[in-house]
Amino acid sequence: MSEYYRNKVHSNELIATFDDVLILPGFTDFSPSQVDLSSKLGKYNLNLPIISSAMDTVTEENMAISMALHGGLGVLHRNCSYERQLEMCRIVKRARSFVIDDVATINPNAKVAKAKFMMENYNISGIVVTNDEKKVCGIFTKRDIPFFEQDIKSGAIKDYMTKDVISITPGASREEALKILYDSRKEKLPIIDEDGFLKGLITKKDLAPEFPLASKDEEGHLLCGMALSPRFPESSHSQNLLKEIDKYVDIFFIDVADFFKKDDIEGTVKLMKFLDSDFVLGNIGTYQAAEYLMTKVDFVEERFIGLKVGMGSGSICTTSQQTGVGAPTLFATAHVADAIQDYNPHLSLIADGGFKNPGDLPKAFAVGADLMMSGHFFAGTEESPGFIDTIAGRKVKVYRGMGSKEARTSGYISDRYVEGSKMLTEGVSNYVPYVGDVLGVLATLKEGLANGMIYAGAGSINDMKKVTLGIVSVVGQRETATHDLIGKY
Ligand code: XMP
Repeated sequence: MSEYYRNKVHSNELIATFDDVLILPGFTDFSPSQVDLSSKLGKYNLNLPIISSAMDTVTEENMAISMALHGGLGVLHRNCSYERQLEMCRIVKRARSFVIDDVATINPNAKVAKAKFMMENYNISGIVVTNDEKKVCGIFTKRDIPFFEQDIKSGAIKDYMTKDVISITPGASREEALKILYDSRKEKLPIIDEDGFLKGLITKKDLAPEFPLASKDEEGHLLCGMALSPRFPESSHSQNLLKEIDKYVDIFFIDVADFFKKDDIEGTVKLMKFLDSDFVLGNIGTYQAAEYLMTKVDFVEERFIGLKVGMGSGSICTTSQQTGVGAPTLFATAHVADAIQDYNPHLSLIADGGFKNPGDLPKAFAVGADLMMSGHFFAGTEESPGFIDTIAGRKVKVYRGMGSKEARTSGYISDRYVEGSKMLTEGVSNYVPYVGDVLGVLATLKEGLANGMIYAGAGSINDMKKVTLGIVSVVGQRETATHDLIGKY
């Protein structure tokens, strides 16, 4: 008697999700201040293992800057033109960097009108003046612009600029720069080498306040991640723009609902050879998919730094309902983490979507995640794109799935789902409560994670991977939530 189909139903593994499990308490021999929340993503160190989703109602430049400043990462979405993507990653890379490398300069013989135009169009308040030999000979700021229109039109920079430039030498520390800026009451400090050549600019605005946890690249600029289609762009115009974007982005996140597809894999191999940045691939949901990607595909090894997992778990996702296929984030994390152990322990694992409470974070790390990604926690913050609306007296913001009708009408992300499919939406658009700024949300998530680690007896994300967890019965789940209360007073 055949038992093939019955076994398919009965003898397969339980597809467990966050609410199905609890971590068992463990022995704690460290103090709360010793909990280390840092984690690795390729060669980069993140002080907070938290990433905001590449979604058009979650991560644009403001979110990406804020996430990176506070120690996490924001992945810029791709539901827009390459031109807009370039603008976003440029803004992130230039934000708050201690030293500005590509400083605007002007010749002393240029007209004041030119400097005024540059200031207005580049949104800068001062320009370093360099002579024909490219040596620094002055600085011209908004305050130096003459009063009369005629002087602006025909006056030369050299007659209005400050000639005694207060500067600093290359390699000086943040503290040295701050002291000089304070003592001189200046806003800008050119970095000039011993031969008089300009090497950069430090501005007061970028020095303070300090963000000691910030996620940075090797040059000290904020780390920048961006979503990327696995399809190689057809036109040379798009290819050129993508090459330009590549200069500002540190990590591309291949952004499709299901990456275990021949065409997407082949496109990504080509893209990896064309671009110089690191790559995180995803999403996938099973051991088999991870094994295949790590053993059967010729990706550029040193730039393949991570796998992003989870399918259909997102709060705005309907993929599993609409197609009957899915891999909830906790299940997918455990499966892919095992494959990573078996084939390439250097890869980082990002558990993506489905997080509802801070307590879900420790659970993801307990089953092998290195980092977590969420849209849900961040869509209602000040830094997410979109406006604050009011419904029944409550402040709200729009949060939409990238597979929702609303997001897909843009036409930029048709390849995120099954290409050619037009009618079937795989996400919804709805409101989430407005929750203030990202810092507040991160503080709550951080505490949930850190306190969970203390109860579990794990001092670091790697130690979290060793803790024990178990399946909770349905009655146990009911008991875990609040219960048997009279109500609100
Ligand atoms: P949360 O739970 O944070 O999940 O809202 C965010 C993650 O969900 C994925 N995503 C989608 N998945 N349909 C889907 O099936 C969609 O429309 C959709 N939009 C986003 C994505 O991985 C994100 O990080």
